[in-house]
Amino acid sequence: MSKIAHPVILMLAAIGALRLVSAIIPKGKENTPPKPRVIVDRPTRAGGKSFIVTGGTSGVGQAIATQLAREGAAAISIVGRSAERGAGVVKVLTDLGCKAQFIKASMDNVEEVKAVVGKHEGAFGVASGLVNSAGDTSRGTLAEQTVEDWDRLFAVNARAPFLLTQMATNSMKRENIEGSIVNIITITSHGGQPYLCGYAASKGALVTFTKNAAHSLRGDRIRCNGINIGWTHSAAEDKLQVKETGDVNWLEKAKEKVPFGKLVLPEDIAELTCFLLSENSGVCTGSVIDFDQMVMGGYD
Ligand SMILES: NC(=O)c1ccc[n+]([C@@H]2O[C@H](COP(=O)([O-])OP(=O)(O)OC[C@H]3O[C@@H](n4cnc5c(N)ncnc54)[C@H](OP(=O)(O)O)[C@@H]3O)[C@@H](O)[C@H]2O)c1
Repeated sequence: MSKIAHPVILMLAAIGALRLVSAIIPKGKENTPPKPRVIVDRPTRAGGKSFIVTGGTSGVGQAIATQLAREGAAAISIVGRSAERGAGVVKVLTDLGCKAQFIKASMDNVEEVKAVVGKHEGAFGVASGLVNSAGDTSRGTLAEQTVEDWDRLFAVNARAPFLLTQMATNSMKRENIEGSIVNIITITSHGGQPYLCGYAASKGALVTFTKNAAHSLRGDRIRCNGINIGWTHSAAEDKLQVKETGDVNWLEKAKEKVPFGKLVLPEDIAELTCFLLSENSGVCTGSVIDFDQMVMGGYD
């Protein structure tokens, strides 16, 4: 036999060696990291868009609407029952250069809730974002909660967000708007205090609705997230605490009891909500974020 290898054998050996080398050395194209995505600056991330904010006449909802206006929102509809407070917030928003209107609607009235989206669209076109912040926080224990209160809690805290999400997202789908919904929930949705029986249950329903809606809407690139907010120092909470404890210094005592020495502030929630409404939150959907200093599941 000749000592020189047959050319076919040589060729096969060369092909084998090439395959081996290409398997070991990573291909440049496949391993090029994606270009960093441009993050929209905070002052402009709501730019050109319009939003509906229920509960925008007060507390957390007001802080969210104000932050959206600061971040360049084109127009905002504030929804609530108090025309006086609504007018006050509209002035704040318009002073910030954002178009704004107050829509009077009680969240336990189906017809009034159903009219909200149409009124927004009549004034400002289809909304890119909806925030369900209106909430009925009425107390009631298992032993004493009435059916009337239970039904109203579910109407305001679960049915109204469902109806508004349904109507707002049907419009978004029609106009191919990749919108975002944020539901303001509560840490109490994990179970909560005995005196918040119906409230906790209704907000628990809103958690499940948030996830169900997110899953239903992802094919349309519409996102839906929730925030389980902890004990928040809003004006309404201040009024309630003074009424229940009779102590105008309740806040100082409350601060001593919590690990960070402060309660959640409406502005903290506004910050996260505006992020979730913006494209900076990417594909994040179906998440319900615990925004609190109590860690669920942790114990001493
Ligand atoms: N503060 C807290 O410690 C805390 C903790 C956990 C969760 N939350 C949740 O955070 C959200 C905002 O609460 P907040 O602290 O900002 O209280 P808030 O200042 O009392 O605000 C509640 C808002 O909801 C609106 N609202 C209440 N019932 C309504 C109804 N039947 N129809 C229409 N609007 C209604 C009110 O508007 P009008 O008065 O104009 O009707 C108001 O704008 C609520 O969903 C609440 O459950 C608050």
